[in-house]
Order: sequence, then C-alpha cells, then structure tokens
Amino acid sequence: MSTENGSRAGAGSGSGTEIGAGASSGRNPRHWAVVPAAGAGRRFGGPVPKQYLELCGRCVIEHSLATLLEHPAVDGCVLALSAEDEWWTDTAYASHPAVQRIAGGTERSDSVANALEALSEYADEHDWVLVHDAARPCLTRSDLDRLIAALGDGSAGDGSAGALLAVPVHDTVKVADAASGDRVLRTVPREQLWRAYTPQAFPLGTLRRALARARDQGSAITDDASAIEQLGLRPLLVSGRSDNLKITRPEDLPLAQFFLEQQQEQGLR
Ligand code: CTP
Ligand code: MG
Repeated sequence: MSTENGSRAGAGSGSGTEIGAGASSGRNPRHWAVVPAAGAGRRFGGPVPKQYLELCGRCVIEHSLATLLEHPAVDGCVLALSAEDEWWTDTAYASHPAVQRIAGGTERSDSVANALEALSEYADEHDWVLVHDAARPCLTRSDLDRLIAALGDGSAGDGSAGALLAVPVHDTVKVADAASGDRVLRTVPREQLWRAYTPQAFPLGTLRRALARARDQGSAITDDASAIEQLGLRPLLVSGRSDNLKITRPEDLPLAQFFLEQQQEQGLR
C-alpha cells in the first residue's frame, strides 16, 4: 500500500474514513481495490460461505486481500459484504486502516456498484478500480504487477477500456444444442477464446457508467468487463497464471491449497 501524500488509510467499518484524504486532481491516477465478498457460495454449499473457509492457515478472503493490500500501488480497498455476514470481524483485516466495508447487493454486479458508489466519495473518476473476487485466493504479486503495468504504460488502450487478467482456453469447446441441452451443435474455434479472471481494472467513472447502463438494460453481467464491452469499449486481455482460480465448488478448495503451496515453494508469495 502506498503511503505517499497521506492518501491512504483508515476506514474500518466505513465511518471516520481517512481513505483518499489526499487530493487526486493533477496527480497520476490512483489504484483502488474493490472486492465483492457478499456471495453466499450456493454452488459450494455448506454453512460457512466459501470466502471464509480455512486455506493454508488463513481464510480464503485473507489470501485474496493480502496480495492487493501489500501492493505498493494500491491505495485502499472497498469490500462488499452481506448484511448476514458474521465472519468478517474475525479476520486479520477486520480493522485494517485501508479497508472500507460496505453493504453488498443481490447480484455480484450490485455489490461492485455499491462499492464504486462508496469509493466515489473520495476517489477521482479517472482513478483505476481493480475489481477482484474474494473467492480468488491464489492471485500472485507478479500477475497483479503485470495488470497494473498494462494500465500504466498505456497498453490498456485509450485509457477508458481498461484491462483484465485472462487465460487462453486450451480445451476443445463445444456448443450444445439449445433444445436438448446435451447434444453437440458445433465446436467453437478456440484460438480467440480466453477465460476471464480477476482483477479487472477500469477507470472508476467508466465502470460506474457501464454497470448503471447494464442494470438499466436488464443485462446479466457475470464480470465487470462485460459491462464495459456493452459500452462499445474493448478491454485489454493481460495473460495471467491459470492457478488464479475462483473457488466455486468443493473440489476447488484442495486445488487452491495445492496452488498456494506451489507458489510458496517457488517464492511467489
Ligand atoms: N459476490 C458478491 N455479491 C453477490 C454475489 C457474489 O459480492 N451478490 C461475490 C462473491 O462473494 C465472490 C464473487 O462475487 O467473491 C464471485 O462470485 P461467485 O463465485 O459466484 O460467488 P457466490 O455468488 O458466493 O457463489 P454462488 O454463485 O455459487 O452462490
Ligand atoms: Mg454467484
């Protein structure tokens, strides 16, 4: 986390925030993490949401936040939590001065939109917002560096389309016939196919407009880039590590453990 210009710090539960105390106009855009963590983990199941399950001595969300909060370019983090959340206060970051907790929404995109609204109180609309799933604990510093570098060197384009971590598809991909649901209709050429990961980074103002438009049009948005694409913009695909998986089903948790252990052995965390 940056300490320059006194621009970071203190939010706790959202009151008395010092995040963004430094004026941003006339300076380079800052970088803010937005972490949607208000999901119930229905596909995973169980009484405790997946972001709070134990993984290599910490809980999932602690790993996800650590990479973001330890990065020197990241000025602060807005975290969207469910109203029913009874686990966050027991985590290591519960009273971290640069984490602002806000209420999530019904869908992931509502949680992100709520976080952006809170961020707009102190961030500039040209600042970068890095949206990262709480359920992705294996994000490495090197992938985050690569994403931030793509924003900084202008390769993310005209400055408004942003960039996302993504991984080329190596499997052969089939399209099922709509009527049967399980009969192959055709095979999709995979050369241009990528799996979209997070973080995904966009200027705050552009992402706010994109999500508001998607909501007004009733479009189902499963990642932030989709909303940006609907504005006619073309985010940059930044090739990332395939171990940055999203924990979705129970079998993903031991995989994440394996990846974290491998990363530790290789000095990547
Ligand atoms: N998320 C959120 N608000 C929601 C739904 C999801 O903040 N209303 C967050 C989740 O906590 C997760 C991320 O968005 O960190 C990605 O969503 P997903 O993997 O779908 O998690 P869940 O919605 O919790 O899982 P499921 O869809 O299986 O219920
Ligand atoms: Mg979900």
